[in-house]
Amino acid sequence: MLIIDCCIRGEASATRRYYQAWLRAHPPEGAQVLELDKLGLRPLDRAELEARDALSAAGRFDHPMFDLARQFRDAEEILIAAPYWDLAFPALLKVYLERVSVSGLTFGYTPDGRCVGHCGARRLLYFSTCGGPKGDNLGFAYVKALAGMLGIGTCVPYVLEGLDMDPARREAILAEAVARLGRGE
Ligand SMILES: Cc1cc2nc3c(=O)[nH]c(=O)nc-3n(C[C@H](O)[C@H](O)[C@H](O)COP(=O)(O)O)c2cc1C
Repeated sequence: MLIIDCCIRGEASATRRYYQAWLRAHPPEGAQVLELDKLGLRPLDRAELEARDALSAAGRFDHPMFDLARQFRDAEEILIAAPYWDLAFPALLKVYLERVSVSGLTFGYTPDGRCVGHCGARRLLYFSTCGGPKGDNLGFAYVKALAGMLGIGTCVPYVLEGLDMDPARREAILAEAVARLGRGE
């Protein structure tokens, strides 16, 4: 399982505590954890994009620039954890996703113009916690749409809402959700 942790608040993050409780209830056989804020990720700029396009055109997908994309493509199962920020998720997660969406590597096109995903994960789990109501959760909707494009058809949301509405309830909401996981719900 590839675990993509975009929990900016680190150990204080409710989202991290939530997904880690899920992992305790469902221990994966092997797990690789990417803490995104430790990777020094930056948005693609013009120079890097040109270098990436040149490598892609030469079929040089073994280049280190594609390490994250190859890791994502080859994962059997993916877990993404990101708090609900500004109706979606932290920009850092978008920067990561920009690095794994690579034409010719994680997706491609058929001769008749259809988009085909090349990623093999059997499912993607998406963990998030929200201060207020989760609403439509554009974060999950976006990740689900992108995962579909990359070939991952099953995305499961684990989204908790209302964590900031009454600070006295924050711990209780999390504890109740963790207890539900422990009961296999
Ligand atoms: C920058 C920022 C943006 C946020 N945007 C929203 C939002 O749009 N909607 C919402 O309900 N909560 C929002 N929140 C509250 C968080 O979703 C909430 O506190 C969440 O539990 C934080 O998760 P964490 O403890 O894993 O960091 C925001 C918090 C921050 C710091």
